[in-house]
Amino acid sequence: MSVDWSISFDEKIMPKDMQNAATPEEYIKYHANSVRDYKAFWANIASELEWFKKWDKTLDDSNPPFYKWFAGGELNASYLCLDRHIKTGRKNKVAIIWEGEPMENGKPKEVRKITYNEMYREVNRVAHLLKNRYQIKKGDVIGLYMPMIPELPIFMLAAARLGATFCVVFSGFSSDAIAERMNDAEAKILVTADGAWRGGKVLDLKSIVDQALQKTKTISKVVVLNRTNNKINMTDGRDELFDQVMKDIPVNTYVEPEKVKSESPLYVLYTSGTTGKPKGQVHDVGGYMTLLHATMKWVFDIHDHDVYWCMADIGWVTGHSYIVFGPLMEGATEVMYEGLPVFPEQDRWASIIERYGVSIFYTSPTAVRGWIKGGDQWVKIHDVKTVRLLHSVGEPLNPEAFRWLFKHVGREMVPFGSTWWMTETGGIMISHVPGLMMVPMKPGTNGLPIPGIDADVVDEDGNSQKQNERGFLVIKNPWPGMPLTIFKDPDRFKEVYFSKFKNVFYAGDYAVRDPDGYFWVLGRADEIIKVAGHRLGTYELESALMKHNSVAESAVVGVPDDIKGEVPVAFVILKQGAQPNDTLKNELKDTVRKTVGPVASLKDVIFVSKLPKTRSAKIMRRVVKAVAIGKPPGDTTTLDDEASVEEVKNAYAQLSGEVGSS
Ligand code: WT7
Repeated sequence: MSVDWSISFDEKIMPKDMQNAATPEEYIKYHANSVRDYKAFWANIASELEWFKKWDKTLDDSNPPFYKWFAGGELNASYLCLDRHIKTGRKNKVAIIWEGEPMENGKPKEVRKITYNEMYREVNRVAHLLKNRYQIKKGDVIGLYMPMIPELPIFMLAAARLGATFCVVFSGFSSDAIAERMNDAEAKILVTADGAWRGGKVLDLKSIVDQALQKTKTISKVVVLNRTNNKINMTDGRDELFDQVMKDIPVNTYVEPEKVKSESPLYVLYTSGTTGKPKGQVHDVGGYMTLLHATMKWVFDIHDHDVYWCMADIGWVTGHSYIVFGPLMEGATEVMYEGLPVFPEQDRWASIIERYGVSIFYTSPTAVRGWIKGGDQWVKIHDVKTVRLLHSVGEPLNPEAFRWLFKHVGREMVPFGSTWWMTETGGIMISHVPGLMMVPMKPGTNGLPIPGIDADVVDEDGNSQKQNERGFLVIKNPWPGMPLTIFKDPDRFKEVYFSKFKNVFYAGDYAVRDPDGYFWVLGRADEIIKVAGHRLGTYELESALMKHNSVAESAVVGVPDDIKGEVPVAFVILKQGAQPNDTLKNELKDTVRKTVGPVASLKDVIFVSKLPKTRSAKIMRRVVKAVAIGKPPGDTTTLDDEASVEEVKNAYAQLSGEVGSS
């Protein structure tokens, strides 16, 4: 757990002019009604979408935990995001205002304003390409390793149109990570670009793909977009230029959207777990789109006149849900920004808010902490008064970050929340819902569960935890948007999420509930590290270290960081003969970066001769972590392993003695 900031359960702030202001008690009453008959509640929301065929059963719960929402119903996500708006008066409304990273004379060099009609045309053309040139059909998987350019959502929507499944790999992942995911997902083709702009430099995506393709088994074609005019090598018979293969497809091409079953897979997205390889989270169409529709309304209060900006990368679930499917389904106008929010200067993000008049802004604690460090002057030179709603996601929002953004962008009057959810949940689960009922805010809280979601904090035995006491976060009812399974591994799905507590979803987070019923998610209860909101499994980092032939064993733990929330530190036992020096340290850091990707940068490598283990030979991570932080482990944290307080103390003394003397 990385959070050790002090929080106040008592401070309550009500945003200004809220017509739907409510007390926590009023909201809890409303909420209790919504979960009492949650099936009927969600069915009501689902009926606001356009279905080709209505469902036979709201929830098929005959085989828990493999639930089918709106079973038998038929719809199409691409149809909901595009065709519907074309027919209902949003044809020429701007869907995406895209801003590229490079600047020229103090202005963005490239801005593309793409209307719903233009999106519709492009998605149809790309769907035609996928279907006819690459024979992609219902059930096939396509891989996407792309920069933040409009063609990424276009490919996602085109796949969805065909009823095919897409699998996006974040562009900060390495070739090994791509290969592992593409092999597991059995992707048929991979779409990429010559490069991606990141902080003024070109990240050479294509050569990373070339390396990955040496290890993939199922990919027969690679489609390459031109983004950076980067010089690339094309492999004959395998690689095809996007511009080339698209040029003869007419602008008025129409590909009929497949009538897709509600419970069929829309996408697979890989997440780090605590053990083993990344888990492919499979999300459905009907439940997922229903949850996004609800949360776009309740959490973001989205309206036609808004300019919405979610700062995430589409490579993560936040981008899937709240850049692509959520806002487009609602017919919103949204900003999509390609690069670093602090390039070329600290104020890039604020200049974007000003340039387009952003009214709804979805950001992250790591970003905000970075801006605080950069200084107030940068935000002050921009007019950001158009912002009427703020939210954050990815990791706990510390009160300082809340206060800063609330003051400098929120003018101490707009709703601002910290939305808790995860890749697995598909969409937001615990959050303020200013579009529905606004309860008082508290700096750093996640607030109360959204309607229809029965979340709780429980003790080791699965009983509701007392107020103000730390416990495990769980969700007690099935919800629309939950994963169908882990791709090709249903047993693991059951084991990871539904075995710690019987029949309830175990999120893997520690949380507290305060006397008003508000949730405060404190951080991971397991071996997942959140670095700048990105999720890394210690197992992945440790396996990467093992690739270096000097490493005998290692333990990676997360330590607190002022900006990134947490950063990984490795404790390494070397093989005999290897020299523990700075050169080796750097080599090891490099190995991890190359194996997992630039997202995985070890802050430090500490050489030790022994790692503390429990009797069943599990590494005592809390001891390693305590040593990394330089604070003895508490006496009461018996939740995490079977070691006694005495054993933990001894192990701590030994390891810190060794680290201290080296
Ligand atoms: C983990 C899930 C879902 C979008 C991005 C992350 C942490 C996420 C919050 C928040 C405290 C949060 C949790 C969670 N987390 N949002 N508002 N407050 N913690 O998705 O990569 O699947 O990570 O992120 O630890 O379990 P993810």
